Amino acid sequence: MIVLAGFMGAGKTTVGRLLADKLGVPFLDSDQVIEERSGRAIRDIFAADGEAAFRELEHQAIAGLLAGPPAVLALGGGAAGHPGTRDLLISSSAADVVYLRVGYEEALARVGGDTGRPMLARDDIARVYAARQEMYAAVAALTVDTDGRAPEDIASDILTRMPAA
Ligand code: S3P
Repeated sequence: MIVLAGFMGAGKTTVGRLLADKLGVPFLDSDQVIEERSGRAIRDIFAADGEAAFRELEHQAIAGLLAGPPAVLALGGGAAGHPGTRDLLISSSAADVVYLRVGYEEALARVGGDTGRPMLARDDIARVYAARQEMYAAVAALTVDTDGRAPEDIASDILTRMPAA
């Protein structure tokens, strides 16, 4: 299973769909699974229950997906901040984690102002971005830069460089 990690706007969904097509496996998105299972929008979960509650739902969703059939899985940008999720990503022999790296400016240019992403409304979003870099690197077997690159180019690069793909 190829797992795509990275900050909001890194292109996890776009690149993930391309990869899944190329590999002939389903594309899964942890955010979408959480929304379907809970019947609520992520924005509403954050607003009503807070980030910690969302991270628990996210952990359960990801644990289940990692135990399932092969797929390309796009994680939410903060998923690896949950210690249990991070441990699963590091220890799971089924998960080949790719870090899609995007620069801060480019990430905000791609998704800034999206009200469906509650983390973007935080005053300290620049600090969150900086603090997460180490976290992504810790779970990833491969890091791929995305700034200024087309999704198709990134997807091909992953398939070339991913030992298990
Ligand atoms: C989040 C990223 C979002 C989503 C939620 C929290 C984050 O996913 O999981 O809004 O903490 O960075 P994307 O990375 O797909 O936008």
